[in-house]
Amino acid sequence: MRSDAEKILLTEEEITAKVLQLGQTISTDYANKELLMVGILKGAMIFMADLVRSVNIPVEFDFMAVSSYGSANKSSGVVRILKDLEQSIEGRHVLLVEDIVDTGLTLKYLLENLQTREPASLRTCTLLDKPERRQAEVTVNYNGFTIPDEFVVGYGLDYNEKYRNLKDILVLRPEIYQKQGEE
Ligand code: IMP
Repeated sequence: MRSDAEKILLTEEEITAKVLQLGQTISTDYANKELLMVGILKGAMIFMADLVRSVNIPVEFDFMAVSSYGSANKSSGVVRILKDLEQSIEGRHVLLVEDIVDTGLTLKYLLENLQTREPASLRTCTLLDKPERRQAEVTVNYNGFTIPDEFVVGYGLDYNEKYRNLKDILVLRPEIYQKQGEE
């Protein structure tokens, strides 16, 4: 699997340190509030698992699963909810947890959708931000790393459902997805 990588972008150690830092900031910001963290499956699964454990205030969590119509490595902006929240978020302090904000189209859709449910507050946290590719204006309240416009995998992020279990975040060799995209 590692031979499919062009380079390691972020090591396990760098990710661990950043997640700890994010957890501390979130704990300070939400002290005395009841926090509900909402992870977006499947990409944010690994990040979410580490982030909730680096938060040292009481926290509840839930998940949503969405699929974006489009090819494997391009988002179309049309989002379908595959799994919705199990509870009402009315009056709750909600923090949406994403793996990566790329075009911003998925996050924009989710924010608009969740806002209609009248949470007390709604913020966003992403491990990775690729601002060069932004098509929709979205506010990222907590960001782990700003990265260049390269396709990355590992630590929850996939290409065709593979590589999610890697501990580091890697840049995939372009021929891997170009070749498979032509099949
Ligand atoms: P957006 O709607 O373009 O912001 O894309 C959001 C989703 O696209 C993310 O939650 C990822 O699932 C996927 N995605 C975007 N960029 C990458 C990448 O570099 N590697 C893996 N998945 C990505």
